[in-house]
Amino acid sequence: MLIRKPSDIKSSEITSRDHYVDRRSFMRGALSGAAMLGAAAVGADRVADLISPRTSALAGTKLETVKSPLSTTGETLTTYQDITTYNNFYEFGVDKGAPSKNAGGLPTRPWTLKVEGLVNKPQTFDIDTLLKMHPLEDRVYRHRCVEAWSMVIPWVGYSLSELLKQCDPQSKAKYVEFHSYFDKKVEKWYYEDAGINWPYTEGLRMDEAMHPLTLLTMGLYGEVLPNQDGAPVRIVVPWKYGFKSAKSIVTIKVTDKQPNTTWNLQGANEYGFYSNVNPTVDHPRWSQKTERRIGAAFYDQRKQTLMFNGYGDQVASLYNGMDLKKNF
Ligand code: MTE
Repeated sequence: MLIRKPSDIKSSEITSRDHYVDRRSFMRGALSGAAMLGAAAVGADRVADLISPRTSALAGTKLETVKSPLSTTGETLTTYQDITTYNNFYEFGVDKGAPSKNAGGLPTRPWTLKVEGLVNKPQTFDIDTLLKMHPLEDRVYRHRCVEAWSMVIPWVGYSLSELLKQCDPQSKAKYVEFHSYFDKKVEKWYYEDAGINWPYTEGLRMDEAMHPLTLLTMGLYGEVLPNQDGAPVRIVVPWKYGFKSAKSIVTIKVTDKQPNTTWNLQGANEYGFYSNVNPTVDHPRWSQKTERRIGAAFYDQRKQTLMFNGYGDQVASLYNGMDLKKNF
């Protein structure tokens, strides 16, 4: 992975979601007026893209949410535009801008999430059931990619533990494994470009999965997840590098063995199973001491990376007695 070519970050201004939506409607109005003329000049496809970026029919659907005491405070939110156009979703291409252009064909309805393995009540949940099963919370988290960039994202979801508890994990359950959706028939699916094993698979230790910060995520900025961010349901583990947060998941398997995970199989010396954010353990090919905050003003882009991405008070005790340099 992860870092195949120099970053293509756009530096955009920090804008609130409401301001962004207003501006986007204004831009769309202005663009539709210009569309007839513009189509002739720059090509109808390109104009259609500008007016209505291909995400999904559900993009923009509002969710009813409550505030969460687990939300990170004191950070400037990354704009909706940056969160939804600077993505890693290798099924849809390896460039950061590819998922927002290509993920429109991901079939997010109907969608089911199966919980299987070492649970007393294996179940298959429909996405509409998941959306109603527990109050949806607004959870702002820092999001730190192993590639040394970061964002601050207002996700929407609830603790994964709420779902797992419904399935009653057995006492021998030690790990959970997440499988992302994979179907070669999806339109604009560029999975071969990444050269990794599919489906995208990730995993957590059971106590990590049950930690309240681990979020079953179904939205951002108060709306359903756009496809490129892992619609309709993904995992977010804020104290770990972003690749641990599998997108568009269809199966959660509870097991007694440490799962083989996509990036760990690809290069165990580069992408450890734990992959807790840790500024003292460099990636073999780059430093992890600092990170670049996407969209921040030029003078404010470079940030010190925090141990456990700043969530150490909540999660450090999960790793008591473990050498985090060896078990990265
Ligand atoms: N999940 C799937 N299925 N496919 C992917 O390529 N990329 C991972 C993770 N989950 C990935 C995935 C990586 S490397 C990161 S950093 C985050 O998703 C990016 O999430 P974002 O695009 O919403 O910022």
